[in-house]
Amino acid sequence: MTSPHLIDQSGMPARTITEWVREYTLPLYWRCGHGTCGACAVHIRYPEEQEERWVTLSGKEKNVLLRHKLITPEAHALTTIKQTPAIWRLACHVLVAPEDKIEVIW
Ligand code: FES
Repeated sequence: MTSPHLIDQSGMPARTITEWVREYTLPLYWRCGHGTCGACAVHIRYPEEQEERWVTLSGKEKNVLLRHKLITPEAHALTTIKQTPAIWRLACHVLVAPEDKIEVIW
């Protein structure tokens, strides 16, 4: 597991974490870029947010996480999931909004 990498969008257009990795050559290994291989699994945290963030994972992301045993069947059945640093996300699915600062750990 790496030290957290801070991604600070600072008003730049929204893009996925893997697009950030590609542009800034961060050492995150990933393969498909389409959400099917599961190689880009990361933990994320929003260090400046005080309130809980609930996210809707796509069926594709949930299916890949389940196939790699990175999500429970119970969580897979949910429509929304509380975004905490404990859960796994696929970096190629996580869109970093212009106002977001997030820490990424893998
Ligand atoms: S790069 Fe393959 S699932 Fe994200």
